[in-house]
Amino acid sequence: MSGQELCERLGVSRTAVWKVIGQLKEEGYGIEGVKNRGYHISSIPDIMTEAEIGSRLETKVMGRCCVCYEEADSTNTRAKRLADEGKPHGTLVCAEAQTGGKGRRGRAWSSPPGEAVYMSLLLRPPINPVHTSMLTLVMGLAAAKACNEVMERSLGDKAPKVLVKWPNDLVIEGRKVAGILTELSTEVDYINHIVTGVGINVNTKAFPEEIAATANSMYIAAGRTFSRAELTALCMKYFEACYDTFLETEDLSVLKEEYESLLVNKGRQVQVLEPGHTYTGTALGIRESGELLVKREDGQVTAVYAGEVSVRGIYGYV
Ligand code: BTN
Repeated sequence: MSGQELCERLGVSRTAVWKVIGQLKEEGYGIEGVKNRGYHISSIPDIMTEAEIGSRLETKVMGRCCVCYEEADSTNTRAKRLADEGKPHGTLVCAEAQTGGKGRRGRAWSSPPGEAVYMSLLLRPPINPVHTSMLTLVMGLAAAKACNEVMERSLGDKAPKVLVKWPNDLVIEGRKVAGILTELSTEVDYINHIVTGVGINVNTKAFPEEIAATANSMYIAAGRTFSRAELTALCMKYFEACYDTFLETEDLSVLKEEYESLLVNKGRQVQVLEPGHTYTGTALGIRESGELLVKREDGQVTAVYAGEVSVRGIYGYV
């Protein structure tokens, strides 16, 4: 497009266009200027910015307010702060890197720049606080659908399958590719806000030694890189649809079937580690209220609540 046309369409001066083109090049966009013809975008960088995510959004609410940081301590912490400052329901907070990424049970979430998605969604749902844990499952389902769609778009039937490991993780070939951390701010019977944070290993080429055996990335599994902004926008699309369905009944009655179709634990032997008590059984599926149903060796079926429990495969992570 010619510089003249850009000026006219945007109602700005030639100098302003030239300045912004310089800024875009600095952000990593490949922009070629061809004499007497104008500018041409030759490559788009894989960056997590409001523009890259926002231009791909197909939602009404989720992600419409979007705040991106080059570096944040933790997007969950930032989202909680933005909630206190009054940012609306559906605000999406992303970062290129986190210096204090938080995992569950007080663990750290390794968050180097440029390769993964670190995002947190601020919600102000009109639900009973005891139903909050189901939102983690709703986010897990949405994120799994988004990862699967992004990989199928380029690899078709050959795409590796992302599955959900109840209640907080996504896995590919039995190794963890994403984790979810949901944090809640409540009064006795009223939710101030919920922040559900997701870390997805998208283009990660290698992991620290401690997690290398159990961690996976979409890149390692598929052998190619993916656009993190596209994946983030798609997560928002699927989350919005699943969230609206969840709100209708305030349970997972409608989403249960699809959730179970992606549930890696289903039909498998699992080990349930409760504080001070461990038992094994076969995971049958989930209840409409989100608990994992486990059939124990004596035939008794137990509903396992997310929270302080950890569910593992009997021979390993899944
Ligand atoms: C886990 O599996 O332990 C949960 C990991 C959650 C990590 C994400 S990354 C984005 C958001 N910000 C954080 O500090 N944590 C979550």
